[in-house]
Amino acid sequence: MEKDTIFEPLKFRNLTVKNRIFRSSISGRWDNYDGSGTQARINWEEKFARGGVGAIITSFVPVAIRGRIMPNYATIDCDERIPFWRKVGEKVHEYDCKFILQLSHSGRQQDIGGVENQNLKALSSTSKTEPFHGFRCQAMTLAEIKDTIQDFADGARRAREAGLDGVELHSGNGYLFTQFISSGINDRQDEYGGSLENRARFLLDVIRAIRKEVGNDFHLQFKISAIDYNNAVTFWEKPGNTLADSIQVCQWAQEAGADAVHVSTGSLFPHPLNPIGDFPFEIIRKTYDTMLSSGIYTIRNYLLFRYWLLRPIFALLWNRVKKSLPPQPLKADEVKDKQIRKLLEANQGRNLRLAAEIKKHVNIPVLCTGGFQQASYIRKAINDMYCDAVTIARPLIANNDLVHDFAKGKDIADKPCTYCNKCLLNVIENPLGCYELSRFDNDYEEMMIEVMSVFHPTHFEQQESSKAFMPLG
Ligand SMILES: Cc1cc2nc3c(=O)[nH]c(=O)nc-3n(C[C@H](O)[C@H](O)[C@H](O)COP(=O)(O)O)c2cc1C
Ligand code: SF4
Repeated sequence: MEKDTIFEPLKFRNLTVKNRIFRSSISGRWDNYDGSGTQARINWEEKFARGGVGAIITSFVPVAIRGRIMPNYATIDCDERIPFWRKVGEKVHEYDCKFILQLSHSGRQQDIGGVENQNLKALSSTSKTEPFHGFRCQAMTLAEIKDTIQDFADGARRAREAGLDGVELHSGNGYLFTQFISSGINDRQDEYGGSLENRARFLLDVIRAIRKEVGNDFHLQFKISAIDYNNAVTFWEKPGNTLADSIQVCQWAQEAGADAVHVSTGSLFPHPLNPIGDFPFEIIRKTYDTMLSSGIYTIRNYLLFRYWLLRPIFALLWNRVKKSLPPQPLKADEVKDKQIRKLLEANQGRNLRLAAEIKKHVNIPVLCTGGFQQASYIRKAINDMYCDAVTIARPLIANNDLVHDFAKGKDIADKPCTYCNKCLLNVIENPLGCYELSRFDNDYEEMMIEVMSVFHPTHFEQQESSKAFMPLG
């Protein structure tokens, strides 16, 4: 029988992954307020390792409390966090799955700063208020830039000491790195602003600092928004970086010591193109209240989300960029269900064209994120040299065992992800999970059982049950 490309190992310079499916980062508020980890996060990551993915890229892991997006994400800001990450890594390794930690800093894109940051403005490349939610920020001084570069290097060292398999720089989707790289955001006049070379300097400095700290034999990849589409929603802003800009940044990052690039889109998160799909007002109108005090435009947004008469205005802005997208580059096997076929055509592999262009200009492996959930499509994307592997987030939330299904010869799960984005808009306030009721035959209780399954076992239960079996006397 012919070998299946999906199950061919992928070799990086310092790492081999058993297949071509990576779990993309999916943050959830599983952890303690102070950034220490919990059993729920271990359970969460175990689900995907058990499901057969070759590697897991963690959630957004802040390298400093000042750089968190919201509380209750496990951090890597001090050495005390090392034992927790070691434990998560060991659990994932039990399934022959690699574990890559996403080193992250929010910059000004700080949805809920938390009490530690309450009296501080967020750090950024700029002092311009973020235009969508209205997050206030201040341009970093050179000393703050230097300290933050060291925070990333320390984070990489801690990941290595924890026995993890590598790190990914979260240098896409609008967070601190994007705020430096993007011509739509960075308005500095010093050596970190202006030309593309200057705007890329922060990323390249971090890569070099990590290499100095951990050496050349530790896997280091970076995520990039291939096109910023910085004015997708806030149309009065500058558009930001083009694909040609990103290709140049990728080449520099490769020279500086990066082992792989992970291709995404958009200079904010979420963005109409990432994660692509619907914008479920029925969820955001209930969860956005958590962010009301975070930015100066949040009340405006809340009214747009809350009142159905105003929603068409927001929907018009949110959806307009999707209309300008070129048609999909690849055709996969036909799917019988018409509705699913339409969803796949609109959403699957949306960054693939961009990944292919980047791949032509670099020598390191290229990972691509965005809508993948059909084996025949993924196989074709790799065989036709669009990318070397795909990363998946939502379709794996919906079907944790998707990779095992592919191995059994299934082209797509029986109940695929609908790209409804209810998981995404719930996560600000509620546990992360699939909230598409139609996937649970409209049985709310069934859906809740699945969402809440991440909390079992708890540490407490384990201790109690071991006590219960202790011999008396
Ligand atoms: C709930 C949720 C949380 C996410 N958190 C992160 C994150 O912390 N870091 C990141 O780089 N991407 C994050 N993403 C983006 C995904 O990693 C992925 O790139 C994107 O959803 C497109 O892939 P998909 O179509 O397979 O979901 C998140 C996506 C979702 C839905
Ligand atoms: S809620 Fe479920 S079906 Fe909807 S996008 Fe998220 S994982 Fe997919």
